[in-house]
Amino acid sequence: MHNTFIATTFDWDHRNPKDWQRFLNRVLRKFRIKAKLTPPQPGMANVEIRMNLFHLLEQTVVHNVPGDVVELGCNAGESTIVMRIILNTLASGKQLHAYDSFEGLPKLQETDHRDEVYSEGDMAVDDHVLIKNFDSLGLKLPHIHKGWFEDTIPEELPEQICFALIDCDLYEGTKHVLPHVYERMPAGAIGMIAVYYDEKLLPRKGLEGGYRSPGVKRAVDEFFADKPETVGMLYANENACGYFRKL
Ligand SMILES: C[S@@+](CC[C@H](N)C(=O)[O-])C[C@H]1O[C@@H](n2cnc3c(N)ncnc32)[C@H](O)[C@@H]1O
Repeated sequence: MHNTFIATTFDWDHRNPKDWQRFLNRVLRKFRIKAKLTPPQPGMANVEIRMNLFHLLEQTVVHNVPGDVVELGCNAGESTIVMRIILNTLASGKQLHAYDSFEGLPKLQETDHRDEVYSEGDMAVDDHVLIKNFDSLGLKLPHIHKGWFEDTIPEELPEQICFALIDCDLYEGTKHVLPHVYERMPAGAIGMIAVYYDEKLLPRKGLEGGYRSPGVKRAVDEFFADKPETVGMLYANENACGYFRKL
């Protein structure tokens, strides 16, 4: 199947400078300053992250890994839409489940607080925005599980999971959902972990905020310390993500 829809859905195409940026770029060139302005990453992630999502989810469907598809932290549904289009195109009967508080991040516990990356309520978006985004593209809605992960997980998880996008941003949320998702995965299932960033593998000076969510890496590394799987890091320009394949 084609994955060009990733570039045309929302505003995820190559980030061409806007008119005002082109103007300033000409000024910079005139003064021989080697710098170029381009638009920032649109929405919750960049196009490279969506491409990684495409390849990981597609694998589990094409290889007939049993189970449904879940997203822990769906926000306005941008990544959920990518997943829905992949499932539709492959005529897969797998169910798509999307979980979020729709109130943003919970009150931060000590360890997340110390990281100084996020605050309570960050990324709050109403579930109606997700519904509107799906409707505007004529896509079937996922099963929406509104509430704190601590209340919905594991009770509202499907019995078997072939693919999980874990996008919780915080140590506590990741630590809570990971064991429940993992135990429902058959061999071959894939877990993609958003903002899993290892600065030893890819040193990036000045990488800030949600591009480096240290709590996510801590929770994931702690969990896999005594597991047979390894977590790989996938390149995604200024973003990054991790993934594991259940053995
Ligand atoms: C980075 S956003 C998800 C982005 C989305 N996956 C995408 O790529 O477009 C993280 C989401 O996780 C949700 N979240 C984080 N911790 C949560 C918790 N403990 N319970 C419920 N939702 C939570 C937030 O509300 C937020 O919408």
